[in-house]
Amino acid sequence: MLCLGIESSCDDTGLALVEDGRLIASVLASQADRHALFGGVVPELASREHLRYIGPLFDSLLEKAHIGASAIDLVAVARGPGLLGSLLVGAAFAKGLALGLEKPILGINHLHAHLLAAGIGRELRFPALGLVISGGHTEIYRMEAADSISRLGRTLDDAAGEVFDKIGNLCGLSYPAGRAIDELACRGDRAEFALPHPYLRNDNLDFSFSGLKTAAARYAESCGLDPDHPKLADLCAALNLAIADTLCVKITRALDANPDIDTLYVAGGVAANSLIRKKLDGVMRERQGEMIAAAPEFCMDNGAMIAYSGWLLGKSGYRHELDFEAIPRGRTIPLDMATR
Ligand code: KG4
Ligand code: ZN
Repeated sequence: MLCLGIESSCDDTGLALVEDGRLIASVLASQADRHALFGGVVPELASREHLRYIGPLFDSLLEKAHIGASAIDLVAVARGPGLLGSLLVGAAFAKGLALGLEKPILGINHLHAHLLAAGIGRELRFPALGLVISGGHTEIYRMEAADSISRLGRTLDDAAGEVFDKIGNLCGLSYPAGRAIDELACRGDRAEFALPHPYLRNDNLDFSFSGLKTAAARYAESCGLDPDHPKLADLCAALNLAIADTLCVKITRALDANPDIDTLYVAGGVAANSLIRKKLDGVMRERQGEMIAAAPEFCMDNGAMIAYSGWLLGKSGYRHELDFEAIPRGRTIPLDMATR
């Protein structure tokens, strides 16, 4: 089965083809440079850019794979959560294509796709825990199977990536700032700034990063931090540590509550963070388990994760009717797939 995957939930337009679990070709257009001018994603601009890119990207994907559109067996598209205007561009394109080619369609949960992307090039293991850490989400899941993924915890306010991006913006780093903060942190002294490890005095698996963001922002403003300030690396190191430790505490708690699990999948843009990877790996090793992070090119938003998830669910017979909805961030994604 050859599955086309379309991702357009935020500011990356990604398309890919997966055949029998193998990635055949992928194309990606990032809008990061455009949004950097505004210090964050501008939703209206994002949807216009998707509209501009998506057709030419589809043509170049077919060219790269040396196939015609009629070879596609299933069209999969990220249906949410994300920015509604952006999701609608991908969904409308996918629906038009499925209708024109007379092929089935499948709307994919973007967050589940981030986690399932770890299966590209290796066998997925279940049951497992899944941690999605991105610019818009910080969520913990129990993964029973590709079609049975349930949320155990989520952020009540800001996502981890949002904290990196906002603090980076305040300090004059360009958007998205996570990678620059990660690099700066390697040469900083984390003891120079006392940042809170937030929302740990409870017994749940939720996160709250807004207090940490405010505390870090106060330091950034009071010290007048900018890219040349000698103390910027110290604040980055303290911020990296506070977020990494908080994630580790909640993941340890989730493992205690799910003793049958010894595999942790980590995905989303923030999963590229070196300290977070190292610390989560340490947590899993200590318990004779394994942390598996998607390959770096599949950590960020991409079409391959949608094509792969579409293939996984599609081969089990899942399909959507053409009138399925795109779901913006904050709304629950309905379980409305049918099996054929
Ligand atoms: O998954 P993603 O591409 O897009 C969504 O937000 O859905 O994630 C982007 C986020 C941004 O917040 C970016 O700053 C962060 O991932 N990021 C990192 C690193 N690389 C990217 N955060 C921390 N450390 C990194 N190395
Ligand atoms: Zn994402």
